Amino acid sequence: MSVGVVRETAAGERRVALVPKVAATLVNKGVPVIVESGAGLGALIPDDLYVAAGASIGDPWSADVVVKVDPPSDAEIGKLSPGSSLIGFLNPRNAENQIGALKAAGVQAFAVEAIPRISRAQSMDALSSQANVAGYKAVVLAAERSTRFFPMLTTAAGTVKPATVLVLGVGVAGLQALATAKRLGARTTGYDVRPEVAEQVKSVGGQWLDLGIDAAGEGGYARELTEDERAQQQQALENAIKGFDVVITTALVPGRPAPRLVTAAAVEGMKPGSVVIDLAGETGGNCELTEPGQEVIKHDVMICSPLNLPAGMPEHASELYSKNVLALIELMLDESGKIVPDFDDEILAAACVTREATDVKAGA
Ligand code: NAI
Repeated sequence: MSVGVVRETAAGERRVALVPKVAATLVNKGVPVIVESGAGLGALIPDDLYVAAGASIGDPWSADVVVKVDPPSDAEIGKLSPGSSLIGFLNPRNAENQIGALKAAGVQAFAVEAIPRISRAQSMDALSSQANVAGYKAVVLAAERSTRFFPMLTTAAGTVKPATVLVLGVGVAGLQALATAKRLGARTTGYDVRPEVAEQVKSVGGQWLDLGIDAAGEGGYARELTEDERAQQQQALENAIKGFDVVITTALVPGRPAPRLVTAAAVEGMKPGSVVIDLAGETGGNCELTEPGQEVIKHDVMICSPLNLPAGMPEHASELYSKNVLALIELMLDESGKIVPDFDDEILAAACVTREATDVKAGA
């Protein structure tokens, strides 16, 4: 059984699916690791470090298990051997054609985003590990783009009040954003439609903005709001947003376009020089004036919608992702070092996206 680490080809991607430290763990378990030359270069990890970790530089596509960050292109799917396994972000909800092509190619594909959010799978939860990176980077970006300090400053030239930061959508990324903004000295407030989040916001030193809407959905996620709830929320947020220097939005509803939380009127109500960081750009954005992937100034407010923020901190994002990938591989390894997925295991049954749904249900 061998593991192949490929060089990512998606535009702007700088992460790698396995860092040398984690490759060494597999090598020590007797699993050969084959790394494509330059696979780590985006994260400034040279081939030499992989070799020092016991991996070899070669053709990763011939390995039994190929590990990736981004979904494979058609050309990459063509390089996979029948009977091999693929692990990565495979976008199973939206990339039906690629999943179909993987199935037709006889590849056993495991989508890390399909791993259930249960306690036993926490070590494999790549959505969470990368959301943590995104939440942190969103705050660093906001502080960099802001025309104001984050912390309170008392200087001979006068006192500067701390920035006020509002985080809308407090899942993993939002909670990390609140914690990071607090560490930088800002006054923080969090808002979400899942009421249980209030305690988590307070635990990282934030205030809870209560708009009286409860939209907790299935599996710990939010549900989509009704028309009435949406109108009520937008109006209440429009009033609240005026008082903040920075608004960071991370709100998502699985399989749906991003909820619109920050209207154009809300942006117009903000003080000139304020900043909106919209992390939901990939699904349309939480702010009405967002242009996904762009930084624009509207009503004298900077609105940034960075895509793939984790790629902007590639070393640590890759390290955390590698540990998620390792934990998933370990779940499939038998004592002799072979990959033998047990599809009675709910984690593997959910993550494997190239098996027939009926098989998965039957645990076959
Ligand atoms: P997500 O990325 O799907 O959404 C981000 C946040 O946006 C969520 O908190 C959601 O409630 C919020 N949101 C959606 N619509 C909104 C609206 N209209 N207004 C305001 N906020 C809105 O969430 P993420 O980060 O993937 O977390 C999802 C759940 O999974 C959470 O309950 C989290 O605690 C849970 N989780 C559980 C883990 C476990 O091992 N048990 C591990 C990681 C996450």
